Amino acid sequence: MISDFFKYQAQTSTHPLAMEVSHASGSYIYDTSNKRYLDFVAGVSACPLGHNHPKVVSAIKTQLDKYMHVMVYGEYAQQPAVELTKLIAKQLPAPFEKTYLTNSGTEAIEGALKLARRATGRSEFIAAKTAYHGNTMGSMSVMGYEERKQAFRPLIPDVRFIQFNVEEDLNLITCKTACVILETIQGGAGFIEPQDDYLAKVRARCHEVGALLILDEIQPGIGRTGKLFGFENYNCIPDIIVSGKGLGGGMPIGAFTTSSALMDLLQDKPKLGHITTFGGHPVIAASALATLKEITETNLMAEALEKEALFKKHLVHSLISEIRGKGLMLALILPTPDIVNQLILTAQDRGLILFWLLFEPKAVRITPPLTVSNEEIIEGCQVILDILDEIQSS
Ligand SMILES: Cc1ncc(COP(=O)(O)O)c(C=O)c1O
Repeated sequence: MISDFFKYQAQTSTHPLAMEVSHASGSYIYDTSNKRYLDFVAGVSACPLGHNHPKVVSAIKTQLDKYMHVMVYGEYAQQPAVELTKLIAKQLPAPFEKTYLTNSGTEAIEGALKLARRATGRSEFIAAKTAYHGNTMGSMSVMGYEERKQAFRPLIPDVRFIQFNVEEDLNLITCKTACVILETIQGGAGFIEPQDDYLAKVRARCHEVGALLILDEIQPGIGRTGKLFGFENYNCIPDIIVSGKGLGGGMPIGAFTTSSALMDLLQDKPKLGHITTFGGHPVIAASALATLKEITETNLMAEALEKEALFKKHLVHSLISEIRGKGLMLALILPTPDIVNQLILTAQDRGLILFWLLFEPKAVRITPPLTVSNEEIIEGCQVILDILDEIQSS
């Protein structure tokens, strides 16, 4: 399989991990030699209930037996999507009511950006340096990392960048600004949390100038930070929330949620303001609904904070200078990118999956399923500590 993988499937780097996956269950992925890997990455934050959670699998199978794709997005009433969007609304404060379901996170970002222009009649987007919002042209235009964009220019004009957590930059948000888009916790940059009521200050500035605030919850959302959405930790209610990844419970999804007044603008001037064939797909919506129910009806969110504490208690080592992030969205900061590579690659050999972050080469991603057990956390932490000991003494 591996030679066909390299020959026929597009690669995104010259050095993929290239594990040959056989099956996965709970916190573990198994390769084709039946070696077991404890998964501290969860499909890059996309599998909050671990792998093949029985309730998710059962919801998918039940829906498969009823119908799959029947119509383009938004024309027919289909129970999984209706129930999913209703449950999302139930979890959120007013005026959030309507959710637009898409196929991926980046597509939901595109929809949210378009809605901000449509609603304000303004063109300017303000985004943060080192931000990541996806890889289509619009999302890439608001990505705050020039090195990854340069080859694809020209991108969307009228985008300005501010520094995340820097209050003085907020005066760049003006009456020309359609929206400010921020990750609630900057992911690719190294799991950087908003400090000193930063998001509330951005919120206030947006109100002053009539700009919308979009929070990208694609990574922190769906329980990972101890709340259903990360913004609930930071005293700030945005105008539009974008979610994805974990919402699908392992299936591809994106979503943007806002008030009915704002969302209904996409119906008119022009009509069909944002359309997609497969968004809201019944099988994927069934998976998302089962996932969201499980997360909101159990203790998993509260436990995410207890598990964060357990990681922090065990991951004490002189090579770890800091553990950033919140809940089960944690990044170990190590002295050099080389040590990061050694740790991630050796851990994989020893049956523990860790991963890099996009823009912070000194960071190691720890984003296990919310269902990871305390024993698994302790077992994985010991593997990390042993490898760091070996690196230190080599
Ligand atoms: C914060 C954030 N926004 C947007 C995206 C893009 O989502 P997708 O890969 O589903 O298009 C990601 C994916 O990593 C993300 O982490």
